[in-house]
Amino acid sequence: MKLIHTIDELKKVLAEARAEGKTIGLVPTMGALHEGHVSLACRSVKENDLTVVTIFLNPTQFNDKKDLERYPRTLEADCELLHAHHVNIVFAPAVEEMYPEPDTRVFSYPPTDSVMEGAYRPGHFNGVCQIVSKLFAIVEPDCAYFGEKDYQQIAVIRAMVKDLGFQLRIIPCPVIREESGLAMSSRNTLLSPEDRTLAAVIYQTLKESKEFSLAHTVAETIAYVTDTINAHDGLEVQYFSIVDGDTLQDVTDWKEVDSVVGCITVFCGVQPIRLIDHISYK
Ligand code: PAF
Repeated sequence: MKLIHTIDELKKVLAEARAEGKTIGLVPTMGALHEGHVSLACRSVKENDLTVVTIFLNPTQFNDKKDLERYPRTLEADCELLHAHHVNIVFAPAVEEMYPEPDTRVFSYPPTDSVMEGAYRPGHFNGVCQIVSKLFAIVEPDCAYFGEKDYQQIAVIRAMVKDLGFQLRIIPCPVIREESGLAMSSRNTLLSPEDRTLAAVIYQTLKESKEFSLAHTVAETIAYVTDTINAHDGLEVQYFSIVDGDTLQDVTDWKEVDSVVGCITVFCGVQPIRLIDHISYK
C-alpha cells in the first residue's frame, strides 16, 4: 500500500494504472476509520482493480470550529487498517495541498441541500461539495463509495455529479452498526462509555417507530420519536424529519410518495456530541 501526500504524485500513479486499463475506486473519508469505512473500502477493493482511500479532515465543511478541533485524528492506525484490507493507495494531503488558496466556489442544490443538515449546519454541504469535487477531478474514479449513514450527503453529491457532469458511479453502502444498534461514526469515540450505551436509544426508538407508524399519522410518529428520545436525560433531538426518500422534502401522509425516510440528529452527553441516523419507513 502506498501512502501519498501530494496531488502530483497521486495523479502520476493513477495515470500509470489507467494506462494499464485498471479501474479505479475512490473512498473519500476524514479518517478516524471504523468498520463502516472498512466496509466501503472492501466493497471498492472487490469491485475495482485499484482502490484509493482519501483521508482528509476537510476544514471547509465544519461550521463549528470546536467540532473540527476535537475530531479524532488517527492516521497511523487508519493506514494499518486499510493495509490489512488490501487498499492500494491512501491519499492523505495537508490542508495547503488541497486549498493552496481559499476555495470561493459556491455550490447550491436546493431544495436537497437546504433542509435538515443544510438548515442546521450552514455551509456544511458547500464544503463537502468543494472537497468531493476536487477529489473527483484529481482521482477521476470509475466508482465512488459513500456510507448511507450520511443519507442527505449522498443526495447532495448526486446533484453535484449531475450538475458538473462527472463520469462516475456513486455507490451508496449500508449503515454499519455497533452491537447496540448505534450507527458507527468517528464521533462515537468521543462519547463516554455511559453515553455510548445511552446513544443506542436513538436507533432502538427509530426501529420501534416503524411499528408505531403502522397505526399512526406522520405527525404522531414524529412526536413519538422526539418525545421518547427526549425523555432520556443526556439526549436531545435537534430535528427529526420524515421525508420523501428521493427529494428529502417533508411528507405529511404515508401514502404521498413511494419512499419515506425518517432522518434524525440528536445531541448526546454533557459535552454534547452530534449524532445522526435514519430509518426507512417504506
Ligand atoms: O462523509 C465524510 O466523511 C465527508 O463528508 C467526506 C465525504 C469524506 C468529505 O469530506
